[in-house]
Amino acid sequence: KPTSSDKAPPKMPGALPLIGHMLEFGKNPFNYMMKLRNTLGEIGEFRMFHQRMVLMTGPEANEAFFRAPDTQLDQSQAYKIMTPIFGKGVVFDAPPDKKDQQLKMLMPVLRDKPMRGYAQIIVAEVEQMVADWGDSGEIDLLEFMKELTIYTSSHCLLGNEFRYELNEEFAKIYHDLEKGVNPLAFVFPYLPLPVFRRRDKARARLQEMVTGIIAKRAQKPEKSEDAFQLLIDARYDDGSRLSPHEITGMLIGTIFAGHHTTAGTAAWTLLELARRPEHMQAVLSELDRLFGADGEVTFQSLREMPLLENVIKEVLRLHPPLIFLIRKVMQDFHFKDYTVKAGKYVCTSPRVSHRIEEIFPEPEKFDPERYTEARQEDAKPFSWIAFGGGKHKCTGNAFAMLQLKAIIAVLLRRYTFELTDAKDHYQDDFTQMVVQPVSPCRVRYRKRQTMSDTATQASEAGTAEKTPTGESFRIVIDRELCQGHATCMSEAPELFQVDDDGNLTVLQENPALDLLNKAKQAEKYCPTQAIKIQLK
Ligand code: HEM
Repeated sequence: KPTSSDKAPPKMPGALPLIGHMLEFGKNPFNYMMKLRNTLGEIGEFRMFHQRMVLMTGPEANEAFFRAPDTQLDQSQAYKIMTPIFGKGVVFDAPPDKKDQQLKMLMPVLRDKPMRGYAQIIVAEVEQMVADWGDSGEIDLLEFMKELTIYTSSHCLLGNEFRYELNEEFAKIYHDLEKGVNPLAFVFPYLPLPVFRRRDKARARLQEMVTGIIAKRAQKPEKSEDAFQLLIDARYDDGSRLSPHEITGMLIGTIFAGHHTTAGTAAWTLLELARRPEHMQAVLSELDRLFGADGEVTFQSLREMPLLENVIKEVLRLHPPLIFLIRKVMQDFHFKDYTVKAGKYVCTSPRVSHRIEEIFPEPEKFDPERYTEARQEDAKPFSWIAFGGGKHKCTGNAFAMLQLKAIIAVLLRRYTFELTDAKDHYQDDFTQMVVQPVSPCRVRYRKRQTMSDTATQASEAGTAEKTPTGESFRIVIDRELCQGHATCMSEAPELFQVDDDGNLTVLQENPALDLLNKAKQAEKYCPTQAIKIQLK
């Protein structure tokens, strides 16, 4: 809200004529943003050429950023570079109401129910990738994860036709689309360059393939259960269907959103474990305890893996693949005493916000125990924001976590990993739009000889149940954060119901204490942290 002392955010010194802070930012955007935070605090302005950018970091600034309505802070501008790939009129290029409807149509694909089928597919894909690995060898871990995650996501989201019949052609198309992501597209998206021509040809061919599959599927009596089919069947509010152009764009968008982000995180998870034997051993023990020597890796068994989950969370704290998120200010935006004028851009940085000493003590230390019941360093809302927050929080976050857990679980049950280069060779590459480990990223793998006999060990710290007191508890829902994933309904169907449109109903006002543990599971696994359980 405006206050009487509205003032412009403080500015970074050292802007050069014309280019502003472009050189320093371009050299290492993370270092520059960290310097801004250390110099100016939670809000501060810098300049990229003529464009004024305001960086907001820390839980309170993040909350203001993520809760602002789209009419005030517009996300679409930041994704303009993707328009030739996703397509005109698709998601970020669509008018706000249409964009919201399209994003809503994607939700059923990423909800809790289809996730069960995805788990099986992911496990089978990982098994297939390592089928000819033998006893030991060396791989480029990032390349391996990129190949694997394109198979897993195309299989889960596009379905069998693309994964099996059209796999090679799809790989080529995807490659040409990826190469077409070029900063030049911000200014001249359709310049007659070879990379842009190949990009446009690839997109047109993909749309032809999508159109062909829609026609073929219409002839089949049985229905596929992938994301593609859900989009074929989806309807706008006025009853009209998505066009093949829109379906193509939304499928590409979903695969792009989850590809490098998941691949880089999976690679970092193994790298961080490989350089820390004590954490590696703890994760191996957890896996052995959960799966034994030949237990199946299933959706159910992947659900609760507190140690590995905390390791992945810590990896995402230190190496969030998206290091800054941008919005254009459409109407003056107020934060505390400051006003950011319309026309400027505001951004937030997960990577900087994750390194605030008061929230995450010793921020550079890799310490998965930060998230245990006893410490809960991420408890303050909007402090841990690797998946963003608010209305636009990553809708694929549950899918990403499932994928990461499945990949690591299958690999580590069979192999151990060692770094081949010096520890400090493995760094983040800030020249990429999605930050990942620098290439090459080589590791040595070795088949595990025996599984440690830890199956009978006591359960991990952090899962211990507290004895509840009182007679009942209260469920509080933050409706602004709920995206209708329906994870709560799977955890506690007695308490939560989510309809096909993603609307949540809490079924009991004052649930009895015997449902407390189930309710807490729902709170814990809600992908958007929209549930709070309060003891009365
Ligand atoms: C949005 C991170 C995986 C689909 C976002 C945002 C972040 C993010 C930070 C918010 C962007 C913003 O506010 O401007 C990540 C990370 C991932 C991951 C770190 C993996 C480790 C995935 C996967 C999918 C996906 C696997 C789909 C299968 C989406 C979609 C949005 C989004 C559709 C847009 C949501 C909206 O605007 O309503 N992601 N993501 N992401 N992500 Fe992810």
